[in-house]
Amino acid sequence: MRVSSTTQAPQETGADTIAIGVFEGKAISHDVDGVLQGLVDAGEAKSGLRKLAVAHAGGRRYILVGLGKRDDFDAERARLAATAVVGRAKELGTRVLCWELPHHTEAPGFVEGTLLAAYEYDAFKSKPEDDGGIEELIVSAHHDTGTDVAHAAAAAEATNAARDLQNAPANAMTPTALAERARSLTGVQVDVWGRDQIVAAGMGSMAAVAQGSDQEPQLITIRYDPPDVAGPVLGYVGKGVTFDSGGISIKPPLKMSEMKFDMSGAAAVLEATGAIAAMGLPVRLVSVLGATENLINGRSMKPGDILRAKTGTTIEVLNTDAEGRLVLADCLAHAIDNGAERLVDLATLTGAIVTTFGNTYAGLFGSDDEWCAAVEDAGRRAGEAYWRLPLHEEYDELIKSRYADISNAVEARKAGSITAAQFLRRFTGDVPWAHLDIAGTAYENGKPYTPKGGAGFGVRTLIELARANAGAPDLH
Ligand code: BES
Ligand code: MN
Ligand code: ZN
Repeated sequence: MRVSSTTQAPQETGADTIAIGVFEGKAISHDVDGVLQGLVDAGEAKSGLRKLAVAHAGGRRYILVGLGKRDDFDAERARLAATAVVGRAKELGTRVLCWELPHHTEAPGFVEGTLLAAYEYDAFKSKPEDDGGIEELIVSAHHDTGTDVAHAAAAAEATNAARDLQNAPANAMTPTALAERARSLTGVQVDVWGRDQIVAAGMGSMAAVAQGSDQEPQLITIRYDPPDVAGPVLGYVGKGVTFDSGGISIKPPLKMSEMKFDMSGAAAVLEATGAIAAMGLPVRLVSVLGATENLINGRSMKPGDILRAKTGTTIEVLNTDAEGRLVLADCLAHAIDNGAERLVDLATLTGAIVTTFGNTYAGLFGSDDEWCAAVEDAGRRAGEAYWRLPLHEEYDELIKSRYADISNAVEARKAGSITAAQFLRRFTGDVPWAHLDIAGTAYENGKPYTPKGGAGFGVRTLIELARANAGAPDLH
């Protein structure tokens, strides 16, 4: 979708459809011969959030959408209202949609909601159901909204690009395909290691997951290092398991196809990094994606195997399905070795987080209160919700191993998400670190502006976090 902004009035643009918000008890922002206000006065155009009315006036189609109470309005409500408008506009065959930005509101929520809701994935349909959809979005406001609109569009497009990576099947979205996408980003340096280099670097933990697959694993390092930028080096790390069968501890067949989404963390990190570079945000960033399949062959790791991670820590594999933490252990260490001074990892790590939060919150764990708060704030601005859960030394007891330093799974089904985070903690040294367990939010999360399938969850949090840390002083 093409996106632009203008200070022209909506009727002066080439839009066939004009979207106008209706706040409770307020006159609408513009009218055509009393027709639109007439609809409001007659109670046909309602102010309740997402309520819709359609009218024709002055040769244009108008979609009036309820925005609720003025005082309750925020970016998330703008996204939801835009979602409702997109649904109706698609039905009506809108090609060029113009949002008249309501007075004293900001453009990003409307732009994001429009682009996110308009997303469709039909790359593998012989006959796309889509009729072309909305081709162009114009934001009309009295003041210049150019930068706001461009940045919001970039963030939404990055989210949609992550959805594309997620939705592609595992036979297409292999580790090498992820690496290829990383190499296509501009303004960054990309370094990709294959199996031999991963093994040679002593990353026995990630290598063990990859050894059960014929697909070449890829350790993808993306560096964004604009000149003359101060502030800490951010390290974004993503779990990129392009298919998780569980390995020898094989998963039950029901919904196993969903495990193509086990690379959602890597997809979010990849596209957020691309968008941050494309926007030219003044921040230094090193992103690490651990891409591999977790499959079964004659070389697969087995329960009881003992691995040596890059840090030297030895790990007993009690469950080959707890592979995400094995991949991340080496990726986190690699990010630190590459200069990361503040870490965030995103991973579809545990089924237990889905039991805890359903699709509403992603789990947030961390070693540093300030850094965790910064991640939570970024999420709030992005409309992506996180809820912090604790780490505690006592959980180290649960991941103790009889034979090695730690084990990758807890035999008693206790604190599944926390013990996974506690495991990761062992690989983050004293670098402020936040772990986001997105197993419940990464796909099929039920948000109105998330179609079925990949949600692109986390992309906008990571962009907001970079924005907030642009040139920021050190934490401690
Ligand atoms: N990728 C899964 C976690 C997952 C589950 C993601 C459901 C999305 C939806 C992960 O690799 C996994 O299998 N975790 C195990 C860990 C257990 C064996 C300790 C789990 O959560 O059951
Ligand atoms: Mn698994
Ligand atoms: Zn997994």
